[in-house]
Amino acid sequence: MSEQTDRFILGIETSCDETAASIVKNGKEIVANVVASQIESHKRFGGVVPEIASRHHVEQVTIVLEEVMTQANMSFQDLDAIAVTEGPGLVGALLIGVNAAKALSFAHQIPLVGVHHIAGHIYANQLVDELQFPCLALVVSGGHTELVLMKEHGSFEVIGETLDDAAGEAYDKVARTMGLPYPGGPHIDRLAHEGEPTIKLPRAWLEEGSYHFSFSGLKSAVINTLHNASQKDEIIAPENLAASFQASVIEVLVGKTLKAAEAYGVKQVVLAGGVAANKGLREALTTAFTKLPDVKVIVPPLSLCTDNAAMIAAAGTIAFERGIRGDMAMNGQPGLPLVSYE
Ligand code: KG4
Ligand code: ZN
Repeated sequence: MSEQTDRFILGIETSCDETAASIVKNGKEIVANVVASQIESHKRFGGVVPEIASRHHVEQVTIVLEEVMTQANMSFQDLDAIAVTEGPGLVGALLIGVNAAKALSFAHQIPLVGVHHIAGHIYANQLVDELQFPCLALVVSGGHTELVLMKEHGSFEVIGETLDDAAGEAYDKVARTMGLPYPGGPHIDRLAHEGEPTIKLPRAWLEEGSYHFSFSGLKSAVINTLHNASQKDEIIAPENLAASFQASVIEVLVGKTLKAAEAYGVKQVVLAGGVAANKGLREALTTAFTKLPDVKVIVPPLSLCTDNAAMIAAAGTIAFERGIRGDMAMNGQPGLPLVSYE
């Protein structure tokens, strides 16, 4: 048997409000993982302020990179490649990670690999268990809501996406209307578990057979419910409103995932993105798939749901193996589409 050498890839992620670096072995095993969150700095503005995000990334990126190398007890010479989030995301934020990766790649002569942020979120699951194909990923984050069909490693087909707000965005906007702090997702999730879904809210199923999503109508319905109540001097229990909103989001997300999994005959379903941290969604998805016992469901641990660089290194490993390379012309691409690796 030929001896295979281990592959170590450094991942760098700076697309939004987390400065993160991680080293992953063979695309599956986390050797070191560092995440510096900026949430505290953005909280008082009720959302991510792009200029503040960029400034924090500049301040943090070197520290985070030094820390990850120390944690791993490795030197740059031990690395096979550097994978960095090329897009989508905030352009000024992406640029910090891309430039750090380019500088390291150039200085140490290490191959550079650009990674799509959503491919990263999906590949967080490969750090939990081996992906099996065909695989269906439900991607739910602050900027994305998508059903992605994967026929093999590095192959991505978006079969459904949101027509307006992303699921996380809807959570954050509804939370803001309810006077909850940013990011609102975890607060609504917590409140939802204390209440009952007593308020009637719409479910956006869209036309028959569609795997697309829409959350803006639901968001407006929540806002209207609050307005009407305040005009009538009525008080709506926030925990019941949270529970009702969450029930609507989850029913549609899980319902469409189940339908698509059956229609495409997938072997595996994986959950990805920040909203994958939602307790209600995690439970509902797992329960729903007891109906399809042949489909294996992976729900990643909370630390791998929100933005991190281990997921970028994991997706980067597959891209690297497919021969994908970046060069010194690499740029942050805010609208980068998710395309399959050739
Ligand atoms: O993936 P992520 O860290 O950043 C993006 O790529 O967008 O996702 C952040 C989003 C935010 O909208 C946040 O409110 C949401 O994930 N989120 C949650 C929960 N934890 C984070 N949404 C619902 N329930 C949660 N427990
Ligand atoms: Zn993300």
